[in-house]
Amino acid sequence: MNLAGKTAIVTGTSRGLGPYIAKALASKGVKIVALARDLKGLEKTSLEIKQSGGNCNVISFDLSQIDELDSLVKNIWEDYGPIDILINNAGIENYQHFDHLSKDIITDIISTNLRSPLELSRCLLPRMINEKSGHIINIASLAGKKGVAYNSVYSASKAGLLMWSDALRQEYKDSPIDISVICPGFLSDAGMFYDGKVEAPKLLGTSSPQKVAKAVIKALKKGSCEIIVNSGPIRPLLALGQLSWNLADKITRLFGVPALSRKRISS
Ligand SMILES: NC(=O)c1ccc[n+]([C@@H]2O[C@H](COP(=O)([O-])OP(=O)(O)OC[C@H]3O[C@@H](n4cnc5c(N)ncnc54)[C@H](OP(=O)(O)O)[C@@H]3O)[C@@H](O)[C@H]2O)c1
Repeated sequence: MNLAGKTAIVTGTSRGLGPYIAKALASKGVKIVALARDLKGLEKTSLEIKQSGGNCNVISFDLSQIDELDSLVKNIWEDYGPIDILINNAGIENYQHFDHLSKDIITDIISTNLRSPLELSRCLLPRMINEKSGHIINIASLAGKKGVAYNSVYSASKAGLLMWSDALRQEYKDSPIDISVICPGFLSDAGMFYDGKVEAPKLLGTSSPQKVAKAVIKALKKGSCEIIVNSGPIRPLLALGQLSWNLADKITRLFGVPALSRKRISS
């Protein structure tokens, strides 16, 4: 895909990773439709993009309102369309013992992280197919590859996002639509892990948000793909996990992941 002149919806652009992705796309000449709830954060992102010569429009919207997404897409298409790229980046997590979570928190995590990407894509795909151009990129997480204790609903949402992307990529293989999924590990400098103010396990380390933004650009140029962004090689460990869940649990404990998650439980 030649990126200059394309239009992308990027969700979760009021803070964290989203602004990095939006700015990287804008620097390649992509027009941005930035979406999140916090208008102040969105306007900051938009201003930074415009100051660098890019194009950005903002929409304040709560993506957990699944029934409203159909008309949201219709309005965005009318105002800014055609839309060539959808980056499903918005996400939330909640560290807690599973049995302490309320029904509403579980609904909120699943709606924001999984149902909204599905619904945005369902509404956009017929229009993209009609235009014979479209790339959907889902920002999942390594937490969707190996479950994270005390963040189990987040893990479930990201595993769902990964497996849905996997199926969709195969389903649309012979169409003009590309489907990609990016799996970051812990991120430095910005985002939900950084905001938690805990140190990443030494054996896992962190990656920069710029590295994830680069992976998004790489996916757009390459076409349908899955990219893991992590400071060290993690694929062999994930492969091992497919052979023995027990061994993978032990390695995860050795890396200090459950202990770290326990520290992040809010009182
Ligand atoms: N940071 C990491 O270490 C890390 C690692 C792996 C994967 N990821 C993934 O990367 C993505 C971005 O995470 P992040 O670290 O940037 O998190 P973040 O700093 O907490 O930002 C989350 C973004 O999502 C938006 N959002 C949340 N709920 C929303 C809703 N209901 N409607 C609309 N927008 C909503 C937030 O905006 P508003 O609050 O203004 O709505 C914000 O812009 C997520 O999908 C996350 O799972 C992050």
